[in-house]
Amino acid sequence: MYRTHTCGELRLADASKKVQLAGWVQRVRRLGGMTFIDLRDRYGITQLTVSEKTPENIRLAAEKLGREFVLQVEGLVVERTSKNSKIPTGDVEVSLLALRVLSAAELPPFTIEDESDGGEELRAKYRYLDLRRNPVKNALMLRHRVAQEARKYLDAQNFLEIETPFLIKSTPEGARDFVVPSRVHPGEFYALPQSPQTFKQLLMVAGYDRYFQLVRCFRDEDLRADRQPEFTQIDCEMAFVEREDILQTFGGMMQHLFRRVLDVALDAIPRMTYADAMRDYGCDKPDVRFGMKIKELTQQVQGNGFAAFDSAAYVGGICASGCAAYTRRQLDELTEWVKRPQIGAKGLVYLRLTDDGVKSSVDKFYPAEALQQLAAALGARQGDLILLLAGNRKQALNALCELRLEMGARLGLRRRGAFAPLWVVDFPLLDWDSEAQRFYAMHHPFTAPQPNDLPLFMSGDREALKSVRADAYDFVVNGVELGGGSIRIFDAAIQQQMFKVLGFTPEDAEYKFGFLTSAFKFGAPPHGGIAFGFDRLCSMFGGSDSIRDYIAFPKNNAARDTMIDSPSRIDNAQLEELGIEVAGERGK
Ligand code: AMO
Repeated sequence: MYRTHTCGELRLADASKKVQLAGWVQRVRRLGGMTFIDLRDRYGITQLTVSEKTPENIRLAAEKLGREFVLQVEGLVVERTSKNSKIPTGDVEVSLLALRVLSAAELPPFTIEDESDGGEELRAKYRYLDLRRNPVKNALMLRHRVAQEARKYLDAQNFLEIETPFLIKSTPEGARDFVVPSRVHPGEFYALPQSPQTFKQLLMVAGYDRYFQLVRCFRDEDLRADRQPEFTQIDCEMAFVEREDILQTFGGMMQHLFRRVLDVALDAIPRMTYADAMRDYGCDKPDVRFGMKIKELTQQVQGNGFAAFDSAAYVGGICASGCAAYTRRQLDELTEWVKRPQIGAKGLVYLRLTDDGVKSSVDKFYPAEALQQLAAALGARQGDLILLLAGNRKQALNALCELRLEMGARLGLRRRGAFAPLWVVDFPLLDWDSEAQRFYAMHHPFTAPQPNDLPLFMSGDREALKSVRADAYDFVVNGVELGGGSIRIFDAAIQQQMFKVLGFTPEDAEYKFGFLTSAFKFGAPPHGGIAFGFDRLCSMFGGSDSIRDYIAFPKNNAARDTMIDSPSRIDNAQLEELGIEVAGERGK
């Protein structure tokens, strides 16, 4: 037996017990004749002491200890004279009777402390050492808690956890596939699933009317703080349901998780249509922790000779309360901010509602009265700052959305610990790409049109198709899309029409999705579902913007694992075996 207790366990009530502990040396302090060793394991830290009374062999061994050595010790629990109220074991220490070094350790490349001196890159390379640190450990413990609570809720609701394969055929969901060459079938490839979408639908056809899975998904897309090439979903599907059933069931799951993990009681989750979200917040995942709604002012501002507004398809603004005192420098800086390529605005117009009236960057185009009317339209009051942007509708709304979030952050309105969840509903079914002159599925090709819009959808008319709404929904919290799903098409004819609208030839559709349309011919129930981004959910609960913190072994922002050095080359023999042209032989 290596240990009788963990390093987080001993209390005053254990005084005078003889115990065995095992763990890593966090720190060694030598004070006069005494040596103090902090021994750490997953559960906590216990102070070990070596005094002049300690047997000599132990005293000698203790002198050679360094950070991160792995020890097994035996000792007597004694009450500390100077207690440490910061740790649960701080009332006691263990006076050593025996010490065995199980593993010596090289000096770690960074300190294994809550505030490490190691930069992100270094810690990523030695992730197994980073994982020893409390903040990372706490993040993984939180992740475990969320997973267990999700399973508990779904199990109680009669969901079955069923695994689906990783080596599949491409299921486009908007990203590129990662592919895996087949050795047995040279020239042929598996694709790693972007999600188990088609499989969970087949499970519904098979009669497993409540399915879920905590499942890894793979998407070859550009990385951001909230995106990883492999990430985890809580993937769910139900049969014999309408949208309302899904929103109730999974709204309930979110309430359960917030309550159990954070002790936060969520009220009934409000809903907002996609159209309202776009109009008022400029995006489909609004942060509704604060107001500062966007207001369209196109008609109101045009016709005064201000070219930037007159030529724009859209002009809109927001009102930043109490910011009228912004200085010229602050406004210039904000203007530069909106002009960055990520935001893409051409310029920023402001109105300051000062004690001496409205001061604006467009005074010469608008009489004072017109400026007052603008201010009134935005509900602005004295002391407020109005910010206006113009452009094409999509671009300007997107820029206003970003500007609103930025101002919200600057004004401290995006409070951590406050949660504003909502369902965004009534998404358009299709997205028209005017450059490519084709439609894309806004969600994925299996999403059903809303029943009322079905005739429009089946008509196939381009303009009609643009207005078809989907039976799709997103779950959004604080401006983060935590989940999304839809009611599915379960009729082979409607599914065929969808493939046609998306530009698949009948052969193409048959080749890629024949298995699904065939299945629908054998008795498909109405069904629908949702998937939550599990990593995003954890980082929301943990209060971090980066999902990487909640993944044990994440990729960096160049999609690399620097610890194992992946991706990496494979040798020519392996390539040949896979029937893949050997690198370097190309062009021979
Ligand atoms: P969707 O593509 O919206 O839907 O994905 C569901 C949720 O997964 C999370 N997510 C990601 N998290 C981390 N890194 C990524 N690269 C990443 N991509 C997505 C998001 C998102 O809301 N099959 C459908 C679900 C369905 O219709 O049931 C799907 O995958 O939080």
